[in-house]
Amino acid sequence: MSKIVLEHIDKYYGSNHVLRDINLTIEDGDFMTLLGPSGCGKTTTLRVISGLEKPQNGRMTMDGRPIINAEESFFEAPSKRGLNLVFQSYALWPHMTVYNNVAFGLKIKHMPKKELTDCVTNALRVMRIEEYKDRYPNELSGGQQQRVAIARAIATSPKLLLLDEPLSNLDARLRIDMRAELKRLHKETGTTIIYVTHDQVEALTMSTQIALFKEGEISQLDTPLGIYTNPIDLQAADFIGNPRINFVNGTALYDGGELHVKSSLGEYHFPQKDIKLDEECPLNEAFDCVLGIRPETIEISLENEGHKNTVSASVYASQPAGSETLITLTVGDAELLAIQIGLKEYDVNQAVFAVLHPGRMNVYNKATTRLIKYAHTTQP
Ligand SMILES: Nc1ncnc2c1ncn2[C@@H]1O[C@H](COP(=O)(O)OP(=O)(O)O)[C@@H](O)[C@H]1O
Ligand SMILES: [Mg+2]
Repeated sequence: MSKIVLEHIDKYYGSNHVLRDINLTIEDGDFMTLLGPSGCGKTTTLRVISGLEKPQNGRMTMDGRPIINAEESFFEAPSKRGLNLVFQSYALWPHMTVYNNVAFGLKIKHMPKKELTDCVTNALRVMRIEEYKDRYPNELSGGQQQRVAIARAIATSPKLLLLDEPLSNLDARLRIDMRAELKRLHKETGTTIIYVTHDQVEALTMSTQIALFKEGEISQLDTPLGIYTNPIDLQAADFIGNPRINFVNGTALYDGGELHVKSSLGEYHFPQKDIKLDEECPLNEAFDCVLGIRPETIEISLENEGHKNTVSASVYASQPAGSETLITLTVGDAELLAIQIGLKEYDVNQAVFAVLHPGRMNVYNKATTRLIKYAHTTQP
């Protein structure tokens, strides 16, 4: 069991308020990713959880057991928290072989020889470093050393594994393999993992939950699909997804139970059930809005097949890349990036038709940048 609850955590470095009222519940067995751009407080949060930093305010419990109570100056010692931490800058013991680096934590626990060998061998296998087991850290590349650091952390089967950008030194191909291994590891061991990254692909591919950070606050907490489909503000929408979401300016009016949006793509009438009717959505007065349209929701056809919401478009440029093709379209004075599976050939300035799906669009209030119209994951 390993359920972590953080309540009202504030952390200051001098006058720099780097964590602002962090509230986060990490359920037993979660793969929770703290995601956000550099400097937003992800590492600091991990250091607070591990006990390397003391917050000025707030509480933390593990399985109901008090770990931090800043108001009462209570901070449980890091060594008692039963967790294991791998940093972006990992420190291996230079005088020990890879095998001994990984075995070290188990030897301290006086694990029987046979069991120890099995645990170490398994960790080396998962991280694909068995062949380096007799080498010393200075005989390894940065990426290999990073894998040893992860192997060392998982060998002890911690209840809670904290990983801070552990794949940052790996090349693109190895990173994909390691994402798969970490995901399997999580599934097989059921260990609760808290994972820090600025890489939205890592977050989307591995997590069960994502906490999206923005300047020391958690701006959104949801599943990868939830965050991808409905990013809570324009900044989140821009950050999540590659290639990035399209933004198209428009004017909105909520009236008669519908949100009417006019833009260079035409006019849409979004049903009330998809609208979040709160202070973000002015009632009965027109306001500036931004449509968010994911590249994969745009279909391109050469003929007008008479679908609703078909618009005439012109190909500005196309980028065939083998497995997929990126097509930049001009529609009125809007530019839209579309993605199609496979190799597609289009000429520059070729006239085509784009089929858009309003059910899959997001609408944001331009002034407040907040989401007001929710998208569906599939075409309703
Ligand atoms: N030891 C420290 N002393 C002073 N400021 C720090 C320290 N560690 C981090 N910070 C500051 O706290 C903020 C958050 O940092 P950090 O948690 O490392 O961000 P992230 O991991 O999201 O990139 C940054 O502005 C950073 O400069
Ligand atoms: Mg960091």
